[in-house]
Amino acid sequence: MPYETIEVAPLSPRIGAEISGVNLSEPLGNQTFAEIHKALMTHQVIFFRDQVMDWEQHKTFGRRFGELHVHPTAPSPEGHPEILTIRGDAKSKRVAGQTWHTDVSCDEEPPMGSILHLHEVPETGGDTMFASMYAAYDALSDTMKAFLDGLKAWHESEHVHGKRYGHKGGMRDGEEMLFPKALHPIVRTHPDTGRKCLYVNCNFTTRIEGLARAESDAVLGFLYRHIETPEFHCRFRWRNNSVAFWDNRCAQHRALWDYYPQTRHGYRVTVQGDRPA
Ligand code: SIN
Repeated sequence: MPYETIEVAPLSPRIGAEISGVNLSEPLGNQTFAEIHKALMTHQVIFFRDQVMDWEQHKTFGRRFGELHVHPTAPSPEGHPEILTIRGDAKSKRVAGQTWHTDVSCDEEPPMGSILHLHEVPETGGDTMFASMYAAYDALSDTMKAFLDGLKAWHESEHVHGKRYGHKGGMRDGEEMLFPKALHPIVRTHPDTGRKCLYVNCNFTTRIEGLARAESDAVLGFLYRHIETPEFHCRFRWRNNSVAFWDNRCAQHRALWDYYPQTRHGYRVTVQGDRPA
């Protein structure tokens, strides 16, 4: 299907493309929706410039791609549980997403995608890096692929979200609910493209099921270093009102916090995914 209603400019051969010709605050026609979906499936993360959207328009755009996900522990603006605030400023002690990760992979059915709209960005800095997990998988030797295929790893959240948000309630499933954790395949097959990709990340993934702790640490350590290979990456320079939409199933991201004490502020809507297979 050729692109007829949008223009798509790749940022790198492996991952990332900038999309123009669409206003995300308006309802998407079927053709434009299909083209945006195709661009996301092809490039794993897509970027839009100069988008003015309120929370309702942001959520409406997200719902075009599936049900919206509610974060297990992060606070949300009153009456908008599907909105996640992303903010770094002079009072911040840390910011969200500073290590390589896919969003909320501790859920049994982790998010399919995330749509981040930044309203205010620093003069310089605050870029987000993205890594293709197709490229990371493809670059492994056949022997390593065969070893990893069929293995599963635990993705846990208490060490990530407990520290950041505390245990003060406001959790998705109630105050008494444990922080979610889930066992996922290390290599997953993308449900739309049918391509294999790596699905471990240093934020949430804690250990490989069936291996001794030292073996698991060594394999995960190797995979985390492998994922850092620059040839698998693209880097996005934000402007006010830019939007990034990434596919959590096949891409990881890392937010750079090099702009302290300046402010970087916006909102994320996250689209529900299915159980990795
Ligand atoms: C996130 O992990 O959702 C934050 C990404 C960013 O702030 O660039």
